[in-house]
Amino acid sequence: MLSRLSARGAVAAARPGPFSSAVKGRAFATSARTQASAKACTDYLEPTHLDDSIPADVKAKLAKHASVTLNTYARPPFILTRGKGLKLWDSHDREYLDFSGGIAVNALGHADEGVAKVLQDQSRKLVHVANLWHNEWSGELAHLLVQKTKEFGGLGYPAGQAEANGKAEDGGLKVFFTNSGTESNEGALKFIRKYGKHVSAMRNAQGAEKGVAAPTDEKVEIVSFRDGFHGRSMGALSATWQPKYQLPFAPLVPGFVPATMNDIDSINQVVTEKTCGVILEPIQGEGGILEAKEDFLRALRKRCDDVGALLVFDEIQCGLGRTGSFWAHGSMPVDCHPDIVTMAKPLANGVPIGAIMMKDKVADVIKLGDHGTTFGGQPLQTRVAHHVVSRIGASSFLSNVSSVGDSLKARLANVHALFPRLVAGPPRGRGLILGLPLTRDEYVQKVVKLMRERGVLVLSCGRQTVRFVPSLIATEADVEKVVDVLESSLVVLNRQEEGL
Ligand SMILES: Cc1ncc(COP(=O)(O)O)c(C=O)c1O
Repeated sequence: MLSRLSARGAVAAARPGPFSSAVKGRAFATSARTQASAKACTDYLEPTHLDDSIPADVKAKLAKHASVTLNTYARPPFILTRGKGLKLWDSHDREYLDFSGGIAVNALGHADEGVAKVLQDQSRKLVHVANLWHNEWSGELAHLLVQKTKEFGGLGYPAGQAEANGKAEDGGLKVFFTNSGTESNEGALKFIRKYGKHVSAMRNAQGAEKGVAAPTDEKVEIVSFRDGFHGRSMGALSATWQPKYQLPFAPLVPGFVPATMNDIDSINQVVTEKTCGVILEPIQGEGGILEAKEDFLRALRKRCDDVGALLVFDEIQCGLGRTGSFWAHGSMPVDCHPDIVTMAKPLANGVPIGAIMMKDKVADVIKLGDHGTTFGGQPLQTRVAHHVVSRIGASSFLSNVSSVGDSLKARLANVHALFPRLVAGPPRGRGLILGLPLTRDEYVQKVVKLMRERGVLVLSCGRQTVRFVPSLIATEADVEKVVDVLESSLVVLNRQEEGL
């Protein structure tokens, strides 16, 4: 697909002007669209889903709800009532194409038949029992996650060596289930603190033998990265170095150290003997779809090993198939791999669940009673997650994510070529976690709104970026529609900017 698109220079040279309406009226034939890429699509200049055409009953319902709901989200004035695949409908049956994927959650799309079937079946058998007892599905899901990690690569297991990596029951990895991404990171932060104390204690014991015992509480610092996002509870927020999230709630948890991603030279200053762990997203999602480079991850991994710190990858947004690999880091060499991976969003396609997967050396320092949860690992959500992971963790599913993601990336690169004044650069990211940087902050919300008013839902994220994290079942036709609407929206924005 990539090769079918012109290079930027060729597109720029071929086009008479970016906003020609030469393609108006044509159907969404993939080949027709990609080859006609020298001109922006103008099929969607007219809005179909205007925010200010709210029916009276919707207005009344929203007012009723607003009177009793804590207002922390700026929501547009419609009420979503049902979905199917990538489509959503509001209470007045207006249809939307959802390229937000519930913020990277609905991996298998809305109202998936398989998910609905296991949900219904399990809800009739057993929804919840205390974690004081075993249930049928928690251990099965842990087993499947470990098996898929060994099959596709991650957490020290190389990709493409499934046989040598062995079976889940051979050991090496352990899983703890939670209820959300934030809670997964909270657990991981606790585990690295406990590990740091263990390393200190070991060193202290060795030192005592030589008569040079040191305090055991020295190894408590946690390094995390600017533009990262790890959640909004006090611990996860302390690792989230974005002033807009942190400042209203300061003071935060002590011991957190900010760092800059991809700055190899700073690693030795920020990761020291006092560091018990480092947490980062291999692809920063909320921060703007910013990828950690392989040589940076290798240097970070080595420094963690040198000082006896753990490395945690937050793959809550970028993991579980989104990049076209099972784990975002899975396709990288093992000398870039972490000791712990946190996950959540797509794990049960929208049924709340999270998990922490760790190497045995981490699990070995966590003892009975050290951590717990009421809802984590219950039979309903773990059975649904087992179904979801079985489907995501198939080579054909993952390669489809890669190829649809390549098509989207190619068309977004072409959008950059068509609108150099509005679009700041080529798309960032891989698979179906992509971001298109715009030239001005305010353009992002304008584009998101213009697209929504044409029936397509996309997201913003940090650094002036429009974010595309659709369901992983998105098709080439979905990509065509989304980018056509994006192009039309940019034509409208350009006209607004020129005062036309
Ligand atoms: C990378 C990352 N970590 C953590 C979180 C927090 O997850 P949750 O909202 O499920 O608590 C998010 C949510 O957007 C995320 O993208």
